[in-house]
Amino acid sequence: MRQIFAQRRGGDNWQMKPIYPNIGIIGTGAMGRGIAQIAAQAGSRVHLFDTNAQAAMAAREFIQAQWTRMVEKQRMGADEAQAQANRLVVAPTLQALANCDLIVEAIVERLEVKTSLFKELETLIAPNAVLASNTSSLSITAIAAGLQHPERVAGFHFFNPVPLMKVVEVIAGLRTDPAVVEGLCQYARAMGHTPVVAQDTPGFIVNHAGRGYGTEALRIVSEGVSDFATIDRILRDQAGFKLGPFELMDLTGLDVSHPVMDSIYHQYFEEARYRPSVITAQRLAGGILGRKSSEGFYKYTDGKAQTTPEAVTPILEEMPSVWLSPRAARRAELLLLLKNLGAKIETGQSPSPQALTLVAPLGFDITTVAVVERLDPARTVGIDMLIDDAATKRRVLATNPATRADMRDAAHALFARDGKAVSVIRDSGGFVTQRVVAHIVNIASDICQQGICSAADLETAVTLGLGYPQGPLAMGNLYGPTNILEVLFNMQTVYGDQRYRPSPWLRRRGAIGLSLLHEEE
Ligand code: NAI
Repeated sequence: MRQIFAQRRGGDNWQMKPIYPNIGIIGTGAMGRGIAQIAAQAGSRVHLFDTNAQAAMAAREFIQAQWTRMVEKQRMGADEAQAQANRLVVAPTLQALANCDLIVEAIVERLEVKTSLFKELETLIAPNAVLASNTSSLSITAIAAGLQHPERVAGFHFFNPVPLMKVVEVIAGLRTDPAVVEGLCQYARAMGHTPVVAQDTPGFIVNHAGRGYGTEALRIVSEGVSDFATIDRILRDQAGFKLGPFELMDLTGLDVSHPVMDSIYHQYFEEARYRPSVITAQRLAGGILGRKSSEGFYKYTDGKAQTTPEAVTPILEEMPSVWLSPRAARRAELLLLLKNLGAKIETGQSPSPQALTLVAPLGFDITTVAVVERLDPARTVGIDMLIDDAATKRRVLATNPATRADMRDAAHALFARDGKAVSVIRDSGGFVTQRVVAHIVNIASDICQQGICSAADLETAVTLGLGYPQGPLAMGNLYGPTNILEVLFNMQTVYGDQRYRPSPWLRRRGAIGLSLLHEEE
């Protein structure tokens, strides 16, 4: 197989010819038609096959309509569109795909159906033709098992909508020939996509790395720390996510996101890091799916989310003096901020009997800090200082079960003095941002530790596939691997949950102060 690609590459002007001149797309639904479109644009002759002949015809019309629109918008020449249309044909039977160099299946997500299709294809296609699956949750090794040539089978996992989501995971099953992976990567580039190479593991890269965001946000809600809208606001404004986790789940729909959470958790034999939530299981059962059912975590009217207004900033007649814990994270910065906000700062070793007592822990909850530092819990409020205050659009304060309302309101009013948004949440080990970011970084670190993909491919896959503000390892570097490690250690103490045990990748790099992107030589 390696030789075949070498020969193709060795040709006179191999770069001009598509690496797969003839490709077959089986299953022409949402995914198949997207893959067909970019394959034709890359210069291949594309044969569309679907057991539902109407679906294949509809896909061809749909793709042509895309090209017509691109011509109208002058993003594609009319000649080019015509040439592409000529290369897009509907195959009346599976046998019509016999001459294809590559076949990509995007049919129903059922192992036995995919395996039996590939078995039938093996009897039709040339010995050197490649078989690829767009599966998002099945094992490539399992799909290839029982075939005569499992070495020619690989995953080619695109994202919806295919022409806009510019990343594709190329997945090597246990028996896949590396040359097949290399060929698909080259073809992906010719299609204008960025390939990332993944080992055949549950969720591959993107759906695996994506487990951190939603599941941790759901845990925060299930602990009664705050409501959906506040958590969304915090993660958008503090960590720079485009969509909060609940907005994202509403967009995707719980009929899609909950089964993915559930499946990856079980495929990893109940690994605590991926544990799903009863909240989504119940909402799914109740048909409260998200935008598609007009109600999810938000209600939708005319497609617009109805959000609850932000809590009003309390107005205080008198502001108490403020005492800041010597163990606060970013203490010097926080002191300067308090000064700029006009706070009366106490300088004694312990707070005066009236003082608002401020703590800024990493990973610990406010209750634990008050107990350990022998502070009066009734006057103790925490602030999340993982991220530089200047770099965030929102400050997050947390109370503990004993915090007095006047102390909570004083802290809220004080930190809102310069007009910055403030959210007040109930006690949580790691507030909101710390714990969600740490969880994402930890899962990403373990993906690297397991050798599922390279650190660079992980970053590319997550930024292009999930739209995070940075790759998860760059996120860890930004906030400090050692800080992230501390958040996780302390959360593990607070919750006693294996979920937060740091991956060796993070533990070792965090301990010696190495970049999380550093791969061993
Ligand atoms: P879809 O339901 O839109 O389209 C599937 C098409 O396959 C239908 O037209 C159906 O008639 C046809 N089909 C079913 N069984 C067939 C068979 N045995 N032979 C030929 N055609 C057959 O499904 P969609 O969403 O396009 O998904 C297809 C595959 O892509 C699945 O494996 C899915 O897990 C995967 N995938 C889906 C993504 C998504 O966001 N929809 C994202 C990434 C992967």
